[in-house]
Amino acid sequence: MLKVNDLKVCYGAIQAIKGISLEVNEGEIVSLIGANGAGKTTILHTITGLKKAESGSVTLFDHNLLATQPHKIVSLGMAHVPEGRHIFAQLTVEENLEMGSYIRKDKAEIEADKQQVFQRFPRLKERRKQLAGTLSGGEQQMLAIGRALMSNPKILLLDEPSMGLSPLLVKEIFEIIKEVNQSGMTVLLVEQNAKMALSVASRAYVLETGKVVMQGNAQEMLQNDQVRKAYLGA
Ligand SMILES: Nc1ncnc2c1ncn2[C@@H]1O[C@H](COP(=O)(O)OP(=O)(O)O)[C@@H](O)[C@H]1O
Ligand SMILES: [Mg+2]
Repeated sequence: MLKVNDLKVCYGAIQAIKGISLEVNEGEIVSLIGANGAGKTTILHTITGLKKAESGSVTLFDHNLLATQPHKIVSLGMAHVPEGRHIFAQLTVEENLEMGSYIRKDKAEIEADKQQVFQRFPRLKERRKQLAGTLSGGEQQMLAIGRALMSNPKILLLDEPSMGLSPLLVKEIFEIIKEVNQSGMTVLLVEQNAKMALSVASRAYVLETGKVVMQGNAQEMLQNDQVRKAYLGA
């Protein structure tokens, strides 16, 4: 479904991504884990067209994403929940969700999807008239995910959804990610929280300073001594 091949990305003279290849198949949760500064966000930004690549290729359903504008990438079926959420603080919860469906014209289905988001996130429904900036961190993360779902994507890219959340909320957010995946959504999940990210994923890639240093079955990686020492604090 999504294929990244030998991707290289630079900031000025600094190469942040040094030839990365990865793949996400339909129906999977694939996790990309690595420490702060490893290049996780840069990869997502390059996939979604926010950052230019130096070389390599990124394809979604055989479309060349490196030659596609960001808004067109959304209409190909890719939604991005950015690091730090970036919700519209001055708009209500409901208006934020509506912004997520801006590329769509199917009014009845948009409404149905909004009701589905409210069903999945009862707290957003209760607060639908509230300004998004007044939500708690966990609620803002739910809103960011809900807004992404409103574009009716085939693949969801999540950048550190657990960042800044209490352990209980982290658990809740990961439950939601699992449910969304079970309802048929493909997920590429970027996380510093390796333990949670590996526990929900089918496969994972470990990133260190712009390179993939390990990849494989997520459950096996949870048991791997090297991974446990470096990323799971064991
Ligand atoms: N806008 C930028 N300008 C210059 N360097 C950047 C910029 N954004 C990220 N970098 C550098 O690129 C590397 C990867 O960063 P990033 O993709 O944000 O990592 P991660 O998301 O894994 O924490 C880091 O060395 C970071 O300092
Ligand atoms: Mg990041």
